[in-house]
Amino acid sequence: MSQIRPQPGILEIAPYQGGQSHLDGVAEVVKLSSNENPFGPSDKAKEAFARTAHQLHRYPPTDHAKLRQAIGDVHGVDPGRVICGVGSDEIITFLCQAYAGPGDEVIHTEHWFSMYRISTLAAGATPVEVPERERVVDVDAILDACNERTRLVFIANPANPTGTMVGGNEVARLADGLPPQAILVLDGAYAEFVEGYDGGAALVEARDNVVMTRTFSKIYGLGGLRIGWGYGPAEIIDVLNRVRGPFNLSQTQLETAEAAVRDVDYTERCRADNARLRAWLAEALAEAGVPSDTSTANFILARFASPAEAEACDEWLKSQGIIVRRVNGYKLPHCLRITVGDEASCRRVAHAVRAFKGQA
Ligand SMILES: Cc1ncc(COP(=O)(O)O)c(C=O)c1O
Repeated sequence: MSQIRPQPGILEIAPYQGGQSHLDGVAEVVKLSSNENPFGPSDKAKEAFARTAHQLHRYPPTDHAKLRQAIGDVHGVDPGRVICGVGSDEIITFLCQAYAGPGDEVIHTEHWFSMYRISTLAAGATPVEVPERERVVDVDAILDACNERTRLVFIANPANPTGTMVGGNEVARLADGLPPQAILVLDGAYAEFVEGYDGGAALVEARDNVVMTRTFSKIYGLGGLRIGWGYGPAEIIDVLNRVRGPFNLSQTQLETAEAAVRDVDYTERCRADNARLRAWLAEALAEAGVPSDTSTANFILARFASPAEAEACDEWLKSQGIIVRRVNGYKLPHCLRITVGDEASCRRVAHAVRAFKGQA
């Protein structure tokens, strides 16, 4: 038998399951399964993307200076403490690679985003799952789970797939209560959807144990291009840059992201449209007898009476050409996560759920 073996932990990784994107025999599906921006990226971002076609033979810059400056200008953060990656997934990977290894523990919460666990196991560390309270992150439960082996604590705020948030005071209490060797990672993939929220940037400024991750995949509509960033204390960003591949982002990624982040009018329009359509959809579902927690993101976690009802509704929606996300893997088998699409998609999914409930 072969003696070739992967590192410990690797075979425990359950491969990531992305949102389904096509249905056999259906030409035009309504895809509401991956929390994408239904309007796509801004025209300025698309123009920047096209322009870079003329430079494909050139290696990109390794310091990402122009993109970091744009992020600094728009988000009011210090560009010197920003790191850019291939999606925020890559920042999560860097954190686990640099700060956790065999014998170390990495905390994630009950309804976790799967990359936390994948990256923890890939680093040879041990993931520790902590219960939530009614689909909301529970700071006391996390603090109870901490010990001298805890190296990283991941929370998404707003959280995926619940859409719920914990308040600034609670997050600060969590940062202050961690053991001295642990880093709090605030995943702000959906932060731009929350009006007036800085994603945790002020807490990063005020503490030496907090890192924030952000993405261009959600409100900026660039999930297909794979760009994210992190913000943290200078020493931690320096460590992460040491494990970062020097050419991790192409010129196309860098210039497109720069144009996207600078187009603040477009971002604001997307935020406002999402808030309006999210409220409409949540109400339409509630009227059909399908409740949800108040969502702060670009999706709604629709709750059904049982896993069987959620599964039956998912099958019905597919038969209507609509793809949403089953969230059994997130320990929510009685729920379906529905991305807030454009107005026509929201109306279609609301109508279909009403019909499923025998009301249309
Ligand atoms: C909570 C959360 N964090 C991070 C990500 C990863 O985003 P990216 O596309 O930047 O890797 C996602 C994507 O779905 C997410 O939901």
